[in-house]
Amino acid sequence: MPPARLSHGGDVLAVSGGGPLRGELRVPGDKSISHRALLLAALADGVSSISGLSDGADVAGTAAATAALGASVESAGGVVVVRGGELRVPPGPINVGNSGTTIRLLAGIAAGCRFTTVLGGDASVNRRPMDRVAEPLRLMGADVDGSDGGRRAPLRITGGALRGITYQPPVASAQVKGAVLLAGLFAAGETVVREPVATRAHTEEMLAAFGADVCLGAGEVAVRASRPNPFEFAVPGDPSAAAFWMVGAALVSGSAVTVRDVYSGQGRDGYLRVLRRMGADLSVAPAGEGRVHLTCRSSPLRGTTITAAEVPELIDEIPVLAVAAAAADGPTRFEGAGELRHKESDRMHSVLAGLEACGASAEVDGDTLVVRGRSQLRGGRIDAAGDHRIAMAFCIAGLVAGTETVISGWRSVATSYPGFVSDLARCRGA
Ligand code: S3P
Repeated sequence: MPPARLSHGGDVLAVSGGGPLRGELRVPGDKSISHRALLLAALADGVSSISGLSDGADVAGTAAATAALGASVESAGGVVVVRGGELRVPPGPINVGNSGTTIRLLAGIAAGCRFTTVLGGDASVNRRPMDRVAEPLRLMGADVDGSDGGRRAPLRITGGALRGITYQPPVASAQVKGAVLLAGLFAAGETVVREPVATRAHTEEMLAAFGADVCLGAGEVAVRASRPNPFEFAVPGDPSAAAFWMVGAALVSGSAVTVRDVYSGQGRDGYLRVLRRMGADLSVAPAGEGRVHLTCRSSPLRGTTITAAEVPELIDEIPVLAVAAAAADGPTRFEGAGELRHKESDRMHSVLAGLEACGASAEVDGDTLVVRGRSQLRGGRIDAAGDHRIAMAFCIAGLVAGTETVISGWRSVATSYPGFVSDLARCRGA
């Protein structure tokens, strides 16, 4: 094993294996919850304050978008204060950067506004499917146009005079559910979203917690025209960021890492169950208010099967779980994982290419990703494809590779976890 090395220049990270990961960390505030906290604060008539917001570029983009729609957003001493209420015509097109969550949730709000909003993003966002939000919003009465026949961003949305619908999204997506529910806050009558497979519940839970007219049933959520009340809220740590450290600690011999104050609600802890099935030495300690402290110690891992029904609750963790699977004993199957093709990169492709570059064997069979396991990982050249989770997942692979791993496209990590390299250095005792 070469000595531990981490060098970081511009858009490239070079990492080699070495000593164990040890210590305690706090990860950024949960990205999904941070987006929703800002958007709901913009809708609430009055002053809300949010602490622990994600420091990633995606959430900064949502803050800028809410300001463009007329909310005042100010940050001081780790607290973001939002004065919301009446939304107004944005001064120009809103650019959401790399954030699919921002554009899809904002589309729901724009559909409720009696003016035209243009929403676009970077090349990745403008490639991703937007028909999944455009279609239900059109059914509710919004005028939604966009490139590629209205299927992709930039989207041009003229809203107002919405009617409630009952909608079953054709894909399991918390972003689609969120967009329809947010539009439902502006609609006449009831708006119902039915989900055959549950997705993360942040939109409905936060709407309920902040006093909007929402009703949570088994497999469905109903909302009526209403607004959240202003609120004070502390965002818990992001489980999808903690996943990198849990896998890193499991794989690197002699490691023991604790991540403190991580969100522990429905739809986000699927990766912990999978890691346990794989034999990870994980412990979970309650930390109050829907939070936990997570600790993982190194242990040998074995392969498992992740079923299609499990995928929505660990979709963002698949890149790093695939790295864990490559080092595990026996194959791991990720079934029904076709949605990976529609993330910040085509993750079916970028995970496969990354695994192959570091000597692992994997294949795609329809919507199933199969990682062979028992690989002696070696360093390689990884193209993160502009995708933060691919960059960080293969940095974790680099910690157990026999030779240096060089990741290009490292800058993308700023999307969700700007402090990743300093947290890694801290765990390695640097
Ligand atoms: C998110 C939902 C998921 C997830 C994304 C965040 C959210 O996307 O992959 O990172 O905050 O609602 P889908 O809704 O497309 O599954």
